[in-house]
Amino acid sequence: MRRDPLEYNLVLIGFMGSGKSTVAKCLRRIYGMEIVEMDREIERQEGMTISEMFAKKGEEYFRNLETQLLISLQSKKNVIISCGGGAPLRERNVREMKKNGKVILLTATPETVLERVKHSRRRPLLEGNMNVEYIEALQEKRRVKYVQAADFVIATDGKTIEQIGREIVERLEEEK
Ligand code: S3P
Repeated sequence: MRRDPLEYNLVLIGFMGSGKSTVAKCLRRIYGMEIVEMDREIERQEGMTISEMFAKKGEEYFRNLETQLLISLQSKKNVIISCGGGAPLRERNVREMKKNGKVILLTATPETVLERVKHSRRRPLLEGNMNVEYIEALQEKRRVKYVQAADFVIATDGKTIEQIGREIVERLEEEK
């Protein structure tokens, strides 16, 4: 499945482990668009990992860098922006995402999330909290903001990456 690059940005949001990075790669194959992986870009800029940043500078410092990056990305057209899981929690960030992009929310059950992230060492918010109850509670706390930010929602549980990619393409083409 090949498509011409889109005129706008595709902005992937969702909880940790909802599949944003993997889906971004699939969309890159389909549309031939460049990916901006927000976490990796911030790590590169700062010369340290997100975990180190949380520990040394605090979460607020990282959140401000997310906002700055989203603002600076508005000069770009047709990129796939894979957001950190907390990015849609700030209203300002959502306004930036929507300026030039379609916002796609990926969802996954707490069980699926745990399965996908349980060996990860790069998610400071889940350090010491790697269990379904914690994930479920944090998802619940964020749910309304996630849904409000989204142009549409794609559930990822039990689907292959190709299925998810196809669903997104269909939704984008329906909305034209
Ligand atoms: C966070 C998600 C992480 C990363 C940071 C905070 C969150 O990104 O930005 O650890 O608040 O949900 P991923 O969603 O890519 O894991």
